Amino acid sequence: MRGRLVAGNWKSNGNLASNQRLLGDVRAAAAGLRGVECAVCVPYPYLFQTQQLLAGAAVTWGGQDVSQFGAGAFTGAVTAVMLLEFGCRYVLVGHSERRSIFGESDAVVAAKFEAAIKAGLTPILCVGETLQEREAGVTEKVVSRQLDAVISNTGVAALAQAVVAYEPVWAIGTGRTATPEQAQAVHACIRGAVAAHDASVAGGLRILYGGSVKAANAAQLFAMRDIDGGLIGGASLVADEFMAICRAAARGQ
Ligand code: 13P
Repeated sequence: MRGRLVAGNWKSNGNLASNQRLLGDVRAAAAGLRGVECAVCVPYPYLFQTQQLLAGAAVTWGGQDVSQFGAGAFTGAVTAVMLLEFGCRYVLVGHSERRSIFGESDAVVAAKFEAAIKAGLTPILCVGETLQEREAGVTEKVVSRQLDAVISNTGVAALAQAVVAYEPVWAIGTGRTATPEQAQAVHACIRGAVAAHDASVAGGLRILYGGSVKAANAAQLFAMRDIDGGLIGGASLVADEFMAICRAAARGQ
């Protein structure tokens, strides 16, 4: 059975004092969690603090982006090996904000995914369509294109070491969540696209939903057969809300 995962994406939020409270509260609440893995993806400068405060906790952590390159003359870029030094298990790759605001192409995202895999990190590959693309009826085409860029670069077997997050751009930070049925349809499409290459990799692949997930809508989303957890933005900054979402994802609840 696929494990459940709920990952928080803090984006460019936090400070040393507020992180200390949030990580402390998450750490305490996660101690009682069963049947779900809870992770936080924090800004680079807070990885050291996160590593210190979550040592030995039932919470994993990761970065929000990674360089497609190794060490060398790449000003501003943070390598996968550096993330590993700070205890990261995960790294977000291809978040829609990276794609749209920072201009990351499918090819760059695929190269970042490859760098993460080669270093032994677990990339959380983010895919999703814009509102315009949904209204044009090309959601599945867009998501398949984003997925194919990675599969053709790294091979389908690499997905056994990865997580996919479906995040419709129109649902991110808007309060407008995809309905469980809308999300399930795309999750099934993603799993089907991977199964066309390798059924066993597809069967084991964790596919998270992201986009305005809250404690109030989490259980309905996580009840869908191809939704294996969530990628949580705003709600991951509030410990009670985030942990309620983690509990909603726990298997056997
Ligand atoms: P919100 O949960 O704030 O909509 O953000 C989702 C997201 O982008 C997580 O990566």
